[in-house]
Amino acid sequence: MLKEKKEASEAQDMTRRKILKAVCCAGAVSVVSAVALDKAGAALSGRTYPQVKIANIKNLPAGKTFKFDYPLAGRKNILVNLGCSVEGGIGADKSIVAYSMFCTHLGCAVDLDKESGMLVCECHQSIYDPKQSGKVIEGPAPNNLPMISLEVDNNGDIYAVGAAGLIYGLRNNLLDGEEVR
Ligand code: FES
Repeated sequence: MLKEKKEASEAQDMTRRKILKAVCCAGAVSVVSAVALDKAGAALSGRTYPQVKIANIKNLPAGKTFKFDYPLAGRKNILVNLGCSVEGGIGADKSIVAYSMFCTHLGCAVDLDKESGMLVCECHQSIYDPKQSGKVIEGPAPNNLPMISLEVDNNGDIYAVGAAGLIYGLRNNLLDGEEVR
């Protein structure tokens, strides 16, 4: 009897996870080419993006976030495991992405709203979709949120290796600040 209940509960959990995955990934469409933008920005600055270890995959289950500076000190970004496969995502499920936390409107802090799964600005409520490469969904933000390019090695260590799109307040992502190492 107990075994049957446990099996039924596990089946329900699996169904729930499948539904969540389907909902989460429904809007996952590519809107920028991160690699192309990285190269252009770096070429203009005469520098190359640093490769900086920021976390390990085992510490980033679905729904978890982690904040880090990149590519310059003080330039905060948010790393998030969305729990479903998205364009530009890394990890076994292609579900881990990272974005600048500087809103493209006036530079206020953007953070993950866990209820909606969107990145929301605290000042004038611009909303960006982390499943669509940081696309502006609502609000006065003029541009999509810059996406941080990520790589993962065989040990599960996650590295920031570039940034797509100009980070708010900078004339070039690699100039006018102390580079993070
Ligand atoms: S600073 Fe983010 S919407 Fe205005």
